[in-house]
Amino acid sequence: MAAAAPEPKRGDSPAPGRAATPPPEERVRVAIRVRPLSAKEAADGAKLIVSTASGGGGDFVAVDGAKGQRERFECDRALWSVSPAGGGAAPADAPPCVSQAEVYADIGAPLLDNALRGFNSCVLAYGQTGSGKTHTMMGGVDGHGRLQVADPAAAGLIPRLCDDLFRRIAPAATPLARTTSGSRPVRLSWTVKASYVEVYNENVTDLLGGRKAVALQQSSTGFDLSGAAKLPVTSAEQVLALIAKGNEGRATGATSMNEHSSRSHAVVVLFLQETMHTTQRNGATTEQPTRSSTVKLVDLAGSERQSDTGATGARLKEANNINKSLTTLGMVIRALGDPKRALPVPYRDSKLTKLLQDSFGGNSKTTMIATVGPSVATEQATLSTLRYAATARKVVNKPKVAGGRRARPQSSRERRKQLLARLHVPGQRRRE
Ligand SMILES: Nc1ncnc2c1ncn2[C@@H]1O[C@H](COP(=O)(O)OP(=O)(O)OP(=O)(O)O)[C@@H](O)[C@H]1O
Ligand SMILES: [Mg+2]
Repeated sequence: MAAAAPEPKRGDSPAPGRAATPPPEERVRVAIRVRPLSAKEAADGAKLIVSTASGGGGDFVAVDGAKGQRERFECDRALWSVSPAGGGAAPADAPPCVSQAEVYADIGAPLLDNALRGFNSCVLAYGQTGSGKTHTMMGGVDGHGRLQVADPAAAGLIPRLCDDLFRRIAPAATPLARTTSGSRPVRLSWTVKASYVEVYNENVTDLLGGRKAVALQQSSTGFDLSGAAKLPVTSAEQVLALIAKGNEGRATGATSMNEHSSRSHAVVVLFLQETMHTTQRNGATTEQPTRSSTVKLVDLAGSERQSDTGATGARLKEANNINKSLTTLGMVIRALGDPKRALPVPYRDSKLTKLLQDSFGGNSKTTMIATVGPSVATEQATLSTLRYAATARKVVNKPKVAGGRRARPQSSRERRKQLLARLHVPGQRRRE
């Protein structure tokens, strides 16, 4: 996936966040995806200045600045998606282009594994306008915000995750387990509910509930979306139809850097609940909720520099609000990543950070996909995205499994046998 590591050059600045990076199980994971050249960049012959590499136990992204300086950024996954089809020739030593399917395999599938184990999970795409966030999260979306299902290879992380989720929780795929007491037959099933909201100009709007305003309710773990519609769904197609319907009312527009720019932060939330069905001796079935988790899938609006986009009037107001919430998220990340924890964590300063309180510094396994352009045309925005992502990588979360009693998949005799085998007690006679 990645080419040979670019040799560090003299004068390389240290990779931000390299020192004392916390263990990957609990900290926010960061993937960096490099998009193809845009048609304009290709037409202008814009020079490629970004490269990816792996080596020394991690992946890296390097930016060779216009003034000859190189900055390297360590990350959990470097995703090089600079296809020659995007315009311009890829360098001879460029790694193979990472497809939408590979992005799902690298980031979406492990996230779903965690969610089905009972961990709250979040993946969010962060980057400059036009850098590929919506492409990564949703995939092909037309000018009206409708998902393009005609090209399955273009499907992004959200449709793929929905597909995988319903395949994995289909009744045929859920195991028949047995409880320890009396070996009563037990079956596990999952139910799924979906919400879809956008944050636009500092208002949260319910995209599945007639676009009504949603008040964020403070809960013990953060702020929740209890006011938003939470619709039961039983197939990927149903979720995608809801998202497509929600997208019809979504705020999008054209900037000089992206014809179909997302002008709001879009948040899809899937609520997963596992239930244990136990057949009693008399044949009756009892149901008990067991594991549960929440999956937040976030396509942020792009950060933008007024000088790059030329925004004025309403577009400028939107841009200022977008930048405000992203700056507040940046301040939350900086405060959480500071080992001394000297700064207050300003979750309350924007709707976006209230919504993401659990995902940063709370009970969640979180991955940020930082999306960047490959060329000199976006050098400053690329560097600022990579610095932001490096700070996010220092944030340590407290993920824990939520849920009641778990169904034990084996009889007590089998469990005892496994326990003894694990203990390796010398001379221990195993009573079968
Ligand atoms: N990895 C990629 N492969 C192919 N095309 C891509 C890729 N990333 C982005 N693009 C294309 O670049 C353009 C801009 O991408 P996209 O709309 O996803 O940007 P964005 O980051 O969501 O921008 P905004 O913040 O303005 O919403 C689209 O035409 C998209 O198809
Ligand atoms: Mg977008």
